[in-house]
Amino acid sequence: MGRKAVVAAILAAAAVCAVAGVAVGRRVRSKRKWGRVIGVLKDLEDSCDTTVGRLKQVVDAMAVEMHAGLASEGGSKLLMLLTFVDNLPSGREKGTYYALDLGDTYLMALRVQLGGHRPSILVHDVERQSIPEHLMTSKGEDLFNFIASVLEQFIEREQNGSGFPLDKRRNLAFTLSFPVKQTSISSGILMKWTKGFSIDDMVGKEVVECLQDALMRRGLNVRVDTLVNDTVGTLVVGHYHDVDTVAAVVIGTGTNACYLERTDAIIKCQGLLTASGSMVVNMEWGNFWSSHLPRTSYDVDLDADSPNPNDQGFEKMISGMYLGEIVRRVILRMSQDSDILGHVTSKLSVPFILSTSLHKDCSWRSFLHCYSSARNHCSFPLSIFRTSLMAAMHEDDSPDLMEVNRILRDTLEVPEVPLKVRKLLVNVCDVVTRRAARLTAAGIVGILKKIGRDGSVGITGGKSRSDSKMRRTVVAIEGDLYTKYSMFKEYLDEAVDEILGGEVAQHVILKAVDDGSGIGAALLAARNSPEDVDTAQML
Ligand code: BGC
Repeated sequence: MGRKAVVAAILAAAAVCAVAGVAVGRRVRSKRKWGRVIGVLKDLEDSCDTTVGRLKQVVDAMAVEMHAGLASEGGSKLLMLLTFVDNLPSGREKGTYYALDLGDTYLMALRVQLGGHRPSILVHDVERQSIPEHLMTSKGEDLFNFIASVLEQFIEREQNGSGFPLDKRRNLAFTLSFPVKQTSISSGILMKWTKGFSIDDMVGKEVVECLQDALMRRGLNVRVDTLVNDTVGTLVVGHYHDVDTVAAVVIGTGTNACYLERTDAIIKCQGLLTASGSMVVNMEWGNFWSSHLPRTSYDVDLDADSPNPNDQGFEKMISGMYLGEIVRRVILRMSQDSDILGHVTSKLSVPFILSTSLHKDCSWRSFLHCYSSARNHCSFPLSIFRTSLMAAMHEDDSPDLMEVNRILRDTLEVPEVPLKVRKLLVNVCDVVTRRAARLTAAGIVGILKKIGRDGSVGITGGKSRSDSKMRRTVVAIEGDLYTKYSMFKEYLDEAVDEILGGEVAQHVILKAVDDGSGIGAALLAARNSPEDVDTAQML
């Protein structure tokens, strides 16, 4: 071989080595990046840990806080509010009743016709109206004028078929799904807003008066004679269909629970007397807090950026307004730590709630204004990673997870990513949803423990749990997370079983309820009407 040929061979070998070196380097770097992303997932899994042991601690904490909230005003983060619902519909109610249900982004108007004997709900008509977002942060009067106009249109539309004359007085129940300190079954004062609403001039106001005034301004002959929280409506409907229903949970945009309590256990209202000896208590459990709750750095940051920091801590870990936002924060962290999702898109950086990066000088209120005007008046590209999208990613059962790709592309502008990355993101959704569902289950068992329906009462030495008498116990559940998100439901049901153990759990039935908050309110309006005299047994 000549010298030239030797040099050429050496150069060629060097080139091959260099190329191989670059390829190896790339592989090592990409492995490291993948390792970092897996590390983010691993940390998330560890900090979202919900072993049965930990869930039992949450159960105990919930029961202890319930006692504290019943013992004194302000004794706990759980408000444990009186509802003045001390007897429930018997099934003999008769007549036509109306309800307005204001809970989150929409308002529902309902008309319920009752036949006088069970099952007495003959017809019910429902209409949903989105609430223009600027009304969630404007003045109380504007919101109530809007509510009155929706009812007016609802009544006008029914004229054709209902045979209910326009000028005849209508009875209406108002479901307001925010913390309200009730002073009677038909009056109450708004304590605070949750779920992104923020209308300062309403806090401390008598809400039924505000609604009644707005209805009068429109000349409507409607009397608001019942005020309830959505959980109470759900309990009423649950109990109406199944008398063993003792508690209700709403797990949708926000979350809360109520249950039947003996009046003598409501120590902060000594001397409270009801014919039934009991009353429904609105727990406002969204504000529950315990050091046993598995909290992550994402929860801490989300809370700090929220319009209500240090408030509604439980709600922020388990309800629909926040789950998608937690997942978005995890995905953002992953894409900041590596380029597995390409570069960090501006859409991925826009939070569901106040954006600290893009809206540094914006308050929550003006953020909502920006957001609503962007949606209504121009095509300003604001992205929100809603919980419904998270659920769709989680439940994508196509072999290639193409739905995951579509959502990433359409909502977060993330270009197509490899299958292993899609699988990883589905895992993130799973961890966040599983924690939420299991904590909700612990909350439910906490209520059962408080009222002695968790199987622990009556177990005496030597006797097994199955020997003790365990009454059939039904919990009514309303809200999209439970009724429409099957993985969430599965995790929740499974956790109740795990915490209680199979023998006890077989006596506890979780029942999904639809539109309960509105229909239940209308049933209560009928219950409160002077024509109705039956009293249903509550406990
Ligand atoms: C409110 C509760 C309501 C729950 C579910 C919470 O944010 O404080 O009053 O029942 O959401 O709608």
